[in-house]
Amino acid sequence: MFEGRSRGVPGRNEPCWCGSGRKYKKCHLPQDRGATPKRSSIADKVAAISSGPTVKTAEQIAGIRAAGVLTREILDLLTDRVKPGVTTNQIDRWVVERTQECGAIAATLGYKGYTKSCCTSINEVICHGIPEDRELLDGDIVNIDVTPVLDGYYGDASRMYMVGNVSPAARRLVEVTHACLERGIAAVRDGARLGDIGHAIQTHAEANGFSVVRAFVGHGTGVDFHEEPQVPHYGRRGHGALMKAGTVFTIEPMINAGHWDARILDDGWTAVTADGSLSAQWEHTILVTEDGVEKLTA
Ligand code: MF3
Ligand code: CO
Ligand code: CO
Repeated sequence: MFEGRSRGVPGRNEPCWCGSGRKYKKCHLPQDRGATPKRSSIADKVAAISSGPTVKTAEQIAGIRAAGVLTREILDLLTDRVKPGVTTNQIDRWVVERTQECGAIAATLGYKGYTKSCCTSINEVICHGIPEDRELLDGDIVNIDVTPVLDGYYGDASRMYMVGNVSPAARRLVEVTHACLERGIAAVRDGARLGDIGHAIQTHAEANGFSVVRAFVGHGTGVDFHEEPQVPHYGRRGHGALMKAGTVFTIEPMINAGHWDARILDDGWTAVTADGSLSAQWEHTILVTEDGVEKLTA
């Protein structure tokens, strides 16, 4: 998601939604760029005012778990299909097909004007690449990000797919980014801090000569597409909000081979590396448990 928040934003001079007590314009407004204020329901307003992640009920967790299983299934079925010559629109159609077969819908379809059921981010695209009639080429690396909503519950995960013969440099970026996600997940436990996740990811990425994208973060999810908290993929150990058992959020590090700076193309969605270097991303939705973490999309 964009770092920031899209729903139920307060007026410039009203208190910030985060509960800091500061005026919105002095607090999260600058971060909430690209957001379309929408006050669709009282529930949205309450969610906007009450800060912090929500602890899920057993029933909600069961629902999110089921959505997570479908998320994984969709990503699994693409493994053997992604190859040179396949278009990203074809990938989108496969995602639609499987999503519909299961009675689910894609959270991205119609989301703030987005018209597709997945994101396909190739090579220097960091995230939010829009499926199109472009064919995948031998040597491409592509992230496919899917977010089915099953019985009202959200699953959100993405993987890298290597198209044909990929250069050793690209493969190393993909593998290090996967290790970054796993290290981030390993830092999750009740009572740990969000900064522990970012620290684990950043340390590993930078030790390998790569950089961590700052402009996009992980996010609470499960009952809504994007919930509190925001989960940066960089940070300091022992800093940030406490993780709490029963909360659900994504970890989705975007790692660049070059500089971390990003820019958005004219389509308003596609985020690319500012320096044109390769970028990779892996994502899971996780549940914080009493004794650690459960991957809901693995
Ligand atoms: N699935 C993405 C995420 O991990 C969000 C995609 S939003 C879209 O948060 F509209 F670009 F599809
Ligand atoms: Co995602
Ligand atoms: Co996500």
